[in-house]
Amino acid sequence: MKIVIANETHFKYAQIICDTIAESAKVRGTGIAKRTPEYIQKRLQNGNAIIALDGDTFAGFCYIEVWGHEKFVANSGLIVHPDYRNQGLAKRIKKRVFELSREKFPNAKIFGITTGLAVMKMNYELGYKPVTFSELTDDPEFWKGCQTCKNFDILTRTERKMCLCTGMLYDPNAKSKIEERKKPNSKSFERLKSIKESLFLKKKSK
Ligand SMILES: CC(C)(COP(=O)(O)OP(=O)(O)OC[C@H]1O[C@@H](n2cnc3c(N)ncnc32)[C@H](O)[C@@H]1OP(=O)(O)O)[C@@H](O)C(=O)NCCC(=O)NCCS
Repeated sequence: MKIVIANETHFKYAQIICDTIAESAKVRGTGIAKRTPEYIQKRLQNGNAIIALDGDTFAGFCYIEVWGHEKFVANSGLIVHPDYRNQGLAKRIKKRVFELSREKFPNAKIFGITTGLAVMKMNYELGYKPVTFSELTDDPEFWKGCQTCKNFDILTRTERKMCLCTGMLYDPNAKSKIEERKKPNSKSFERLKSIKESLFLKKKSK
């Protein structure tokens, strides 16, 4: 398995990346920001994405986006093809994209929003902490990305204060003791998710 910084030679994988993201979101039944192949190609081109290939076969992907004049970067669009899941590949991609973010944008805070327990666990192990949306970028372009998510009405209703996603942030200036971290408590994450779902989704069906 090769895990490399993407470039133009990987354009041919843009379609399968989009399809895998869309199909996985359908299976999970959760909301996700939709991406077009053109959008993915831009990310493949600018040296800010990581792609995993098994020979010539697409296995996984994640990219960095820069917000608020480099004050923040997000590691977004993490996807592992179903044929390659549960082998630690997402963890390797996440780690590589995190390292690349730190190399290229050493002063930026790194953040993500997610409903996925796997992503929460990986972020936590890298030193991210759960935060309210007020701690994340206020760059409107970032939040525009949520418009294609099926839960966008919740984000609008709460005036962008909260949604089903949990915000997580790595602050390079905060003292971090990653090596002393305990494993995150999966039950707490699941409980947080289910509280949010019952709060927001119930209201929605009224
Ligand atoms: C989420 C996803 C990226 C995980 O990829 P993967 O290669 O199977 O993950 P890994 O094998 O590296 O596992 C990393 C950790 O997440 C955990 N994990 C993996 N899938 C999980 C799931 N569905 N639910 C809960 N935890 C999960 C693993 O147990 C592992 O934790 P551990 O270190 O405590 O053992 C993959 O399932 C995927 O692409 N899903 C669809 C897209 C998606 O949900 N993206 C995130 C959008 S926010």
